[in-house]
Amino acid sequence: MILNPDEIQAIRQEAGHFPHPSAAAIEALNIAQQGHGWISDELLKEIADVLGMSPAELDSVATFYNLIYRRPVGKRVIHYCNSVSCWMLGAEDNRRHLSEKLGIGLGETTGDGEYTLLPIVCLGACDKAPVLMIGDETHFNVDPAKLDAILGDTG
Ligand code: FES
Repeated sequence: MILNPDEIQAIRQEAGHFPHPSAAAIEALNIAQQGHGWISDELLKEIADVLGMSPAELDSVATFYNLIYRRPVGKRVIHYCNSVSCWMLGAEDNRRHLSEKLGIGLGETTGDGEYTLLPIVCLGACDKAPVLMIGDETHFNVDPAKLDAILGDTG
C-alpha cells in the first residue's frame, strides 16, 4: 500500500462532499501527489479503489490535467505558458534561457532532481505575459534577466 491512512481518510472526506465519489477525482489525485510527488500506476490504482472508479477512468482524468504528474518530476516544476499572448511576448526566449541555464529540455528534470520544465496552456494572466509558474508561485512579465534573479545561481 502506498497511500497512508491519513491520505485515504482525506480522500474519503473529499469524496463525501459529492453524490458520486468519482467527482472528487482531482482532489484525490492532488492529495496523493502532495505526499508522493507524482502519480505512479500503483498509486493511481489505489486512489481509484478508494473512489470506486476503474484505474482507466481515473487515468483519463489524471492525464487531462497539466498539474497532475504521471511521471516523476523534480522538487519544483517550472510550467511556462506557451499560449498565444505569452508566445508573442517572449515565452520561447524564456524557455530557451531556462533550457540553457538548467541544462534540460522540455519534459526533463535536472540531474539534482530540483527542476522539471514543462509547458502549460494559458494561465489566465495574459495582460502580464509572459507568465510562468515555479512550484506554487506564479511570475509575471518574465524575461531572461528576471529568471536569473528568481533562480539565482542555479545551473
Ligand atoms: Fe500566457 Fe494567457 S497566454 S497567461
